[in-house]
Amino acid sequence: MSGHNRARPDGAGQAPPGGPGRTLIPPLPPLVAATSADLADVEALVEAAGLPLAGLGACVRDGTAVVCREWDGCLLGVAATERFSGVVLLRSVAVHAPARGHGLGAALVERALGDARAAGAREAWLLTETAEPFFAGLGWSRAERADAPASVASSVEFVSACPTTAVAMRRSL
Ligand SMILES: CC(C)(COP(=O)(O)OP(=O)(O)OC[C@H]1O[C@@H](n2cnc3c(N)ncnc32)[C@H](O)[C@@H]1OP(=O)(O)O)[C@@H](O)C(=O)NCCC(=O)NCCS
Repeated sequence: MSGHNRARPDGAGQAPPGGPGRTLIPPLPPLVAATSADLADVEALVEAAGLPLAGLGACVRDGTAVVCREWDGCLLGVAATERFSGVVLLRSVAVHAPARGHGLGAALVERALGDARAAGAREAWLLTETAEPFFAGLGWSRAERADAPASVASSVEFVSACPTTAVAMRRSL
């Protein structure tokens, strides 16, 4: 834990991150399941973060994505999951650039994985090109793509949306 103000997994009661130019208004708004009404903003944030959009709409419509909105409505962050039997693919983890570095990314990941575990998942996988250290700090380990369960390996992220150079990581839930 750094000296940053940290987001609680439920996002409630968070102390203000502060600092000039920050867009966050204290306390940090709650993390909630995304709905179709969030889709356009979610896609814009994920695209701005340089992450693939293919399959993301289904996550949002299925209620397997978590979002955090500023009190004024600005979307601050998202984490989505694709759920299979006993396993989940974590994807589209993105935080609005001015809101980074205050624990929101970690809180979104933990909430998304907690929801997946409550739904029966016991293992999580992801692909990343840029954020391996971030996920390693959250307990994820580098893995071989070939070891991914068939359901995960047949997801659009594994098959086509992510470059073959993307690192696969896994974590027990
Ligand atoms: C990766 C990302 C989601 C992190 O969001 P964030 O809100 O800044 O992350 P947090 O503040 O929760 O950081 C949690 C910890 O990870 C560390 N961390 C965050 N980003 C990191 C990175 N790129 N590399 C290494 N460590 C990182 C933080 O320092 C913090 O460490 P601490 O607990 O020791 O203080 C955000 O930088 C982002 O949206 N990046 C672009 C999209 C992306 O690459 N997504 C991941 C692929 S799906």
